Amino acid sequence: MNISTPTLRVGLAGLGTVGAGVWHRLASQKDLLRQRIGTEIRVDQVAVRRAERAREIGVPESHVVSDWRKLVANPDLDVIVELIGGTKDAFELTQLALQNGKHVITANKALLAERGAELFATAQKHQRHLLFEASVAGGIPIIRALREGLVANRILSIHGIINGTCNYILTRMNEAGLEFKDALAEAKQNGYAEADDSLDVDGHDAAHKAAVLAALAYGFWVPEGQLYTEGLRAVEKQDIIYARKLGYGLKLLAIIKTDADGAVEVRVHPTLIPQSHVLASVNGVFNAVLVRGDVVGDTLYYGRGAGGDPTASAVVSDLAQIAAHFPQEQKARNVGHEALHSRLKTMDEIVSRHYLRLQVVDRPGVLADVARVLASRQIGISSVIQPEAHAGEITPLVLMLHDAPESQLQAAVLEISKIGAVKAPPVHLRVEDFE
Ligand code: HSE
Repeated sequence: MNISTPTLRVGLAGLGTVGAGVWHRLASQKDLLRQRIGTEIRVDQVAVRRAERAREIGVPESHVVSDWRKLVANPDLDVIVELIGGTKDAFELTQLALQNGKHVITANKALLAERGAELFATAQKHQRHLLFEASVAGGIPIIRALREGLVANRILSIHGIINGTCNYILTRMNEAGLEFKDALAEAKQNGYAEADDSLDVDGHDAAHKAAVLAALAYGFWVPEGQLYTEGLRAVEKQDIIYARKLGYGLKLLAIIKTDADGAVEVRVHPTLIPQSHVLASVNGVFNAVLVRGDVVGDTLYYGRGAGGDPTASAVVSDLAQIAAHFPQEQKARNVGHEALHSRLKTMDEIVSRHYLRLQVVDRPGVLADVARVLASRQIGISSVIQPEAHAGEITPLVLMLHDAPESQLQAAVLEISKIGAVKAPPVHLRVEDFE
């Protein structure tokens, strides 16, 4: 008996690095995928603005449309892969595709962070899948790990190095002694950073990804503007050197965790982590995510967070997930359940240890003035470094501080910045001990 292989018909919107990767990998892995899932995954239509790009990639002319609206209106497609980026058209595309009864796969973390609640409501209403494995940490299957592998766990914490560009910059500052701007220029030369570098180096890309991870872990979307985000621009080479002397590495970390009362914190900022911690040895463009579950304990996921092939690997895994059950209908899963809604902590409430670097005039009483401000706010000093300087010179004064609430620390920093001998805005970094 000849049983024909079912076919999942795909529309691909966007043919950038990731779109091209998906096109090529569906071709190169075609037989493997058919063997593994028993369904053929076939791209029937591609929306790309420049026909020339389609020719470069080898997409037959008969497959190409210039307007994504044609794709979402095509009744002969089962799934749309959204790789056009941005949030305006991508939102409209995703909504329309779901409303038209198509499953949607997206790599677009900005879209999910900003409009995830609405999009998943539409997906639920129309019982279509909205899958997003490629949206966080590229090729690392972290979404599936959280949704499936760790489904038996309450998530206690997630610590992620989830922006490869920032990790590359910090690695080069550490290993080659580059200043931030030179490391950024090098990242750009190597094609790691976007021409508009702000999404990466100001922490927004990592914040979008943190919002997706937080929604998976705690069932709610952090409201826009409430996810504390700090990038790398204030970090200098000397901060990395002092951190190293103190036994720490510096990483742009996404921190997502809950406390015993169920209050949740979600934040992205440069963070000192113990050099002996496994995340401290994640270097270059690599990403890593450490997830602590209440049943399993610590689990670690490591790999490439960006690039055509790693991201295509994730997109194809979403296609395979739909294809494996196709044409049977599976229940579409939601992300975000109001019933689980936990309270989001404000940054002011968050308690951590802190690193403070001041540029001060070397004269009697300066250290005492700084210590007095900290003492008045119950902030203890655990360590001090001041390189030997000559009287009257400007010298760094580096302080490691004990646990303090952010509100107290910020007030102290403001007061310290007004001391006459403090000659530049203080550099303040937080410390994570993974307790
Ligand atoms: N620019 C991102 C990074 C990849 O450097 O990790 C896309 O999110």
